Amino acid sequence: MSDTLHTRTARPEDGPRLYALDHAAWSTLSEVAERSAPPTADSTVFDERHRPDDYLVAEDGGELVGYIRLVPPTPLPSNAHVRQISGLAVDDAARGRGVGRALVAAAVERARGLGARRVTLRVLGHNTPARRLYESAGFVVEGLSPGEFCLDGRYVDDVLMGLTLDG
Ligand SMILES: CC(C)(COP(=O)(O)OP(=O)(O)OC[C@H]1O[C@@H](n2cnc3c(N)ncnc32)[C@H](O)[C@@H]1OP(=O)(O)O)[C@@H](O)C(=O)NCCC(=O)NCCS
Repeated sequence: MSDTLHTRTARPEDGPRLYALDHAAWSTLSEVAERSAPPTADSTVFDERHRPDDYLVAEDGGELVGYIRLVPPTPLPSNAHVRQISGLAVDDAARGRGVGRALVAAAVERARGLGARRVTLRVLGHNTPARRLYESAGFVVEGLSPGEFCLDGRYVDDVLMGLTLDG
C-alpha cells in the first residue's frame, strides 16, 4: 500500500470525479444495470438517495482513486444494526495496490463506529477479484441466488456475503 494513500468521507465536490470513475469502471463483471451516460460537466453521483456522507473515498497523492458506499440496507428500525456495502470501485490504473482493501477496511471501521453488528453485501458469482477481496477482509458467503442475472448471454449467480462484527 502506498504511503500517500488515505481514505476520507466524500464531499459534494467529489461528485463529478466519482461519476467519471464509476462510468469508466463499468463492466458486466460487476454491474447488472446498463452503463451510465458518458460524463458531462454536470454529471454527479449524488442525489437525494446518494449522499456524500454515504461514500468513503480513497486518495493517493491527492488524486481520488476509488470509493466505497456504505448504507443501511433498509430504513426499518428492526434492520438498523446492519450496514450494507452497496458500491465499490477502484480506478483501473490504481488497482492491485491495496486501494480496495483500504476502502473495505475503512467501511468496516465506519460500520463499527456507527454501532453496527453486521456488514453485508451482494457480489456477482463471476467477480473473482471482488470476492477474493471480501474474503480476505473476513466476509463469508451467507447465501446465493443461482442464475439471478443474465449478463452477456450467461446466467450469473448473485452471492450474499456478510461479516459479523465483534461486541
Ligand atoms: C474489486 C476491486 C475493488 C479491487 O480493488 P483493488 O484496489 O485492485 O484491490 P487490492 O489491491 O486492495 O487487492 C486486495 C485483494 O483483493 C483480491 N484481488 C484484487 N484484485 C484481484 C484480481 N484481479 N484477481 C484476484 N484477486 C484479486 C486479492 O485477494 C487482493 O489481495 P492480494 O493483493 O494480497 O492478493 C477492483 O478490481 C474494482 O474496482 N473492480 C471493479 C468494480 C467491482 O468489481 N466492484 C465490486 C462490486 S461487488
